[in-house]
Amino acid sequence: MTAAKLTLDGREFELPAESGSEGEKIIDITRLRAESMAIALDPGFGNTGACRSAITFIDGERGILRYRGYPIEELARGARFTEVCFLLIYGHLPTRDELDQFREKLTYHTLIHEDMKKFFEGYPPSAHPMAILSAMVSALSTYYPVDNADENVDLNIIRLLAKAKTIAAFAYKKSIGQAFQYPRNALSYTGNFLHMMFSLNTEPYEVPQVLDDALNLLLVLHADHEQNCSTSTVRLVGSSDANLFASVAAGICALWGPLHGGANQRVIEMLQLIHADGGNHRKYVDMAKDKASGFRLMGFGHRVYKNFDPRAKLLKEAADQVLHQLGVDDPLLDLAKHLEEVALKDDYFLEKKLYPNVDFYSGILYRAMGIPTDMFTVMFALGRLPGWLAHWKELRQDPERRIGRPRQLYTGETERAFVPLAKR
Ligand code: SDX
Repeated sequence: MTAAKLTLDGREFELPAESGSEGEKIIDITRLRAESMAIALDPGFGNTGACRSAITFIDGERGILRYRGYPIEELARGARFTEVCFLLIYGHLPTRDELDQFREKLTYHTLIHEDMKKFFEGYPPSAHPMAILSAMVSALSTYYPVDNADENVDLNIIRLLAKAKTIAAFAYKKSIGQAFQYPRNALSYTGNFLHMMFSLNTEPYEVPQVLDDALNLLLVLHADHEQNCSTSTVRLVGSSDANLFASVAAGICALWGPLHGGANQRVIEMLQLIHADGGNHRKYVDMAKDKASGFRLMGFGHRVYKNFDPRAKLLKEAADQVLHQLGVDDPLLDLAKHLEEVALKDDYFLEKKLYPNVDFYSGILYRAMGIPTDMFTVMFALGRLPGWLAHWKELRQDPERRIGRPRQLYTGETERAFVPLAKR
C-alpha cells in the first residue's frame, strides 16, 4: 500500500497507509504531530479509526454486518444468544462441549449477592432501570476481585454476562412492587430472563417459545456493532486500566442517550404521540425535515449505514411474524411501516440517506413480550454486553494499546494577566 502524502506550510510529509482484511483503507497518523506539529481534528470521530479490531465488520454502503466473519442474517436465523456471546468474546463458534461448559458457568453465576438486593430498597419505584443497571454493574466491583489478572477477568466476564439479566429483571420487579423471582437453573439464558421478569411467587410464567425466540433474535442482533458510542466508551475507560465492571457501567451510561441506545424508547414514545395525534405521519415527517422544530424521526438515520441497517430489516420481518403468531394487532407497527414508507419516498430522507435503524422496530417486539417502554434500553444493554466484553478483552491484548487521550484545537483567550477581585 503506497504512503499518503501531506503538504503543510510548504513541507511534505509521508504517512503510512494500510488496508484491512475487507480492503478498507487507513492513513496511519500516529506520527503526524511528531513530524508536522499539526494534529487532525474530527469532531464525532466520523473519519477516525480508534483501533484495529477483529471482532465485527460493518459495510455501511452495502448494509453488511458480520460478527467474527459470520453474516448477521445467518446468525439471526441459526444461533442462540449464548453461542454469539461465546463467538464474540472468544473468537470462534463453540463446539457442543464448549457451549455446554459456557452455559453451565453462566447458570452457576446468575444469582447476585443477597446483600445487593438491599440496594434496590433505596431506589424510588420511578427510578429509570438504566440508572439502576449502571449503578449495580459498577457495584459488582465491590464484591469481586478486580485486579484485572487474567483469571479474574475471565471469571468477571462470566459473572457480568450472567448477572446483568438478573439485575435487569429485579429492577423491573422493583418498579412494579412485585417480589424478585430467582433464576431457575433448568431454563435457557432468554427463558430465565423472561421467567424472572414475569413469574410470580404464586404462579410461574410459562415462557412461550415464540417470545423466547423473539428475545433471542433481539439479543443476537444487538450483540455488537464495532466502535459505536457506548463500545468506544467502554474501550476509553478500559484504556486507563479501569476494571471491567467500571468500564461496562460507563458504556451503559453512554448507551442510555436518546441518540444511541435510548432511541428505542423514544421511537415507541414517538409512535404513541403520532398515534394519539390521529396517526398523521405526514405531519411528523414534515416536522423532522424542519430543523427549527427540534423534532427528529427517532429510529431513523445512522452514522455508518447509508443504505439500510440489516438489523432493521430482520426486526421488521420478525415483528410481522411474531405479532401474527400471537394474534396481536399493534397499531404502532402499522404506523411504523407507514412512516417508513412515507419517509423513504421523501427527498430529504433520501438525500441525507436516513433509513430505519436497529431501534425503529425493536420496541414493537419488546411491547409484544410485555416489556415496558422504559426497559427497552436495558434490553439493548443486555444484548450489547458480549460486544462490550469482547472489545474490552481485545483492548487489553492489543500491543498498540495506550490510554485514550485525544487532543484539541484551542480557541479560547490567549495569555492575559490576573485581575484581583478588588480591581474587577
Ligand atoms: C444506534 O453507531 C452505532 O453503530 C449505533 C447503533 C449500535 O448498534 O450501536 O447502531 C445503535 O445508536 C442507532 C441510532 C439510534 N438513534 C436514533 O435513531 C436517533 C435519531 N437519529 C439521529 O439523531 C442520527 O441519525 C444519528 C445520531 C443516528 C446519527 O447522527 P450523525 O451521523 O451525527 O448524523 P447527523 O446528526 O449529523 O445528521 C446528518 C443530517 C443532519 O442534517 P444536516 O445538518 O446535514 O442538514 O441528517 C439529519 C440531521 O439533521 N438527520 C435527521 C435524522 N437523523 C439525522 N433528520 C431527521 N430525523 C433524523 N432521525
